[in-house]
Amino acid sequence: MSGERKTVFVKSYGCQMNAYDAQRMADALAPAGYDEAAAMEDADLVVLNTCHIREKAAEKVYSELGRVRELRKERALRGLDTGIVVAGCVAQAEGAEILRRARGVDLVVGPQSYHRLPELLEQARSRPGVVDTDFPAESKFDALPAASRDRTRARGVSAFVTVQEGCDKFCTFCVVPYTRGAETSRPASAILAEVRRLAEAGVREVTLLGQNVNAYHGEGTDGGDWSLARLIRAVAATPGIARVRYTTSHPLDMAGPNGDWELVAAHRDVPELMPFLHLPVQSGSDRILAAMNRRHTRDDYRRIVERVREARPDVALSSDFIVGFPGESDGDFDDTMRLVEEIGFASAYSFKYSERPGTPAAEMDAKIPEAVKTERLAALQALIERQFQDFNAATVGRTVDVLVEKPGRHPGQVSGKSPWLQAVALEAGDARFGDIVSVRITGTGGHSLLGEREAALRERRALTG
Ligand code: 5AD
Ligand code: SF4
Repeated sequence: MSGERKTVFVKSYGCQMNAYDAQRMADALAPAGYDEAAAMEDADLVVLNTCHIREKAAEKVYSELGRVRELRKERALRGLDTGIVVAGCVAQAEGAEILRRARGVDLVVGPQSYHRLPELLEQARSRPGVVDTDFPAESKFDALPAASRDRTRARGVSAFVTVQEGCDKFCTFCVVPYTRGAETSRPASAILAEVRRLAEAGVREVTLLGQNVNAYHGEGTDGGDWSLARLIRAVAATPGIARVRYTTSHPLDMAGPNGDWELVAAHRDVPELMPFLHLPVQSGSDRILAAMNRRHTRDDYRRIVERVREARPDVALSSDFIVGFPGESDGDFDDTMRLVEEIGFASAYSFKYSERPGTPAAEMDAKIPEAVKTERLAALQALIERQFQDFNAATVGRTVDVLVEKPGRHPGQVSGKSPWLQAVALEAGDARFGDIVSVRITGTGGHSLLGEREAALRERRALTG
């Protein structure tokens, strides 16, 4: 490598794992001479980190590639080269097809090959159009360099760490088993080393990531097989780490590998584990759950939620829903609405079913018309929004711990998160990023909460007598 530094801009779509991967790609390119650019316009190398989960997400790549090509033309007029990389799940699913559909792509690289980025770029320099969508024998995690302390610091006090990747569940609608491959878990020692490095750079909260994170079964530091619950306990014990979260979970794995409900117990016993559970259910109809190959019923789901609430009564629930799955009748959809009413979610994501090539559901009859999907989605989202607003309103008047994360929208304000993942805005005062402060929630504003520090409140009371 020449001594000359270049810049890279990674634009990420889709899930939190992609956001984590984007950082790791930037880290992988740092030793090869790339600094992170603040904007795509300034970058010598543009990486699109793509999502394949729904058709709309996947198609976005091609419109974005059009824009990047325009950018490349403008930069060329100024004598600057621009490399274009397509990474992520569309790269994995479509591979060389991307080169055929879109001109100008230098490299297509799947999620398991990010550690090879420097050498792949080198290859692409002499022969643009390199494709690497292998599932290599070696783990990318062993080979990916760690971020520098400065980089980690710049990324904030809350960090993601992938602990598990891939999926063996094969829900009939889903591309993940094909794009991210079979389920694998990272060894606990590697995860804990990463968490320690993060903590030393000032990180206070880690979110453990996996497509099926509660199916985690990695090699423990004692040589045994560790469950997610065991891993959470070790992560929570890392000096500096005040908060631990995990996402995304499958209902089938909540009981744990030994059926001992250890993860649920962790919600009761580990104070650092935040009282929030994202547990996708997808549908409230047993018929549709069976057609989706979810392998659980609506009652199974309700019983799991009950157990978690028994262990941690203030836990906030969140979920994912799909409306308009093939064969979904009005009655099936009503079952979903009723389940949402019964559970009461703090937040939830909902999507129209999107047919994905190669998945079993794509072959199913009784497709649901777009207009019906639109109607059902609107009804479900209205209900979810109401529950979200109710949940936030119920926090008003209470005092909660807020992890201060970043500058607020208004001057003098900072913004942070409650234990229940609610965004809270407050006057900064002497609070620094990474502090956990006691905040009285005074009101709600749109999608966040407003609050005042208890210390500031006490001071004002003293002043006014
Ligand atoms: N169509 C619509 N939504 C989907 N999801 C996954 N696959 C599809 C699909 N084919 C949703 C599920 C999943 C979330 C990440 O995306 O709700 O939990
Ligand atoms: Fe999208 Fe799934 Fe890939 Fe995440 S893992 S980017 S949700 S397809």
